Amino acid sequence: MVEDMKAYWETKRALVEEYLDLWVPSEETPPSRLHQAVRYSLFAGGKRIRPVLALVAAEVVGGEDVQALPVACGIEMIHTYSLIHDDLPAMDDDDFRRGKPTCHRVFGEALAILAGDALLTMAFQVMGDLSLYPPGVEPIRVLKAVKEVALAAGPLGMVGGQVVDLEMEGKAHQREAEEALEWIHTHKTARMIEVSLKAGALVAGGEGEVDVLEAYGRCIGLAFQVVDDILGCQGDREKLGKPVGRDVERGKLTYPALYGIEASLKRARDLVEEALDLLRPLGERAWFLRELGRYVVERDR
Ligand code: IPE
Ligand code: IPE
Ligand code: MG
Ligand code: MG
Repeated sequence: MVEDMKAYWETKRALVEEYLDLWVPSEETPPSRLHQAVRYSLFAGGKRIRPVLALVAAEVVGGEDVQALPVACGIEMIHTYSLIHDDLPAMDDDDFRRGKPTCHRVFGEALAILAGDALLTMAFQVMGDLSLYPPGVEPIRVLKAVKEVALAAGPLGMVGGQVVDLEMEGKAHQREAEEALEWIHTHKTARMIEVSLKAGALVAGGEGEVDVLEAYGRCIGLAFQVVDDILGCQGDREKLGKPVGRDVERGKLTYPALYGIEASLKRARDLVEEALDLLRPLGERAWFLRELGRYVVERDR
């Protein structure tokens, strides 16, 4: 990672951490076991790529990063809920996430389900609370952004993608597998990354740039999941903070399963090239998004 990019990411990430901590009830808040579970997963050390993108998008359209903080934090809450539920025995049945035992391993399944429910609900509370936005953010823009996040996270987006991901377990050989794979990845992962940019840009007053940012997000979001599949085959468990080899064990429909590692890597690189091309009209303003594109294919965690 280029040094400038690292420092910039770190500043944005620190802002996200600070406000998540402020807006999520303390561990002592009753019922304290629930809030412990929520905080356990939320502060286990995620990369925060989605909220950072929301803050960056706000700046790219000429606004301020703080204008996007409620949507950024809301999106990270939704993402964390999706990981808690994704790891449950009824879904991917994983024991390790963000470098720690999964939420259900520590708190039990019932509380893990409810911690996910709490995070999803709190996300909409925070995103919809106009008192959390700095003066100047138009309520109608907040409303539009919240609707977009709901669309991306719900049955036509991430939740839908998760359903088809489960339906296609053990079916990599089927004729429709190629089409299904693209559909799963754009829905379960790319939609939330795409909407992070879109929502951040919308609340900060973005107009013409919103579509460009969204299209960029779709490409890097898909590339991000292709690389997640590759790392899931040959990554380092310690660096990743999650198990390696589980997709094969479960017969998941992934890029490496269908096309092999080399072709998957090429697909990720091509997607990033496409994403970088899309950024051209934004010029220098998009420098971080360019660096991030490179990071997405080179990352090891
Ligand atoms: C993991 O997302 C799940 C996918 C959609 C690939 P991240 O790789 O962003 O996970 P964290 O938030 O850093 O833990
Ligand atoms: C995660 O998909 C996508 C969501 C949680 C929405 P995966 O199941 O492929 O991701 P990891 O590898 O467990 O993080
Ligand atoms: Mg999964
Ligand atoms: Mg999983």
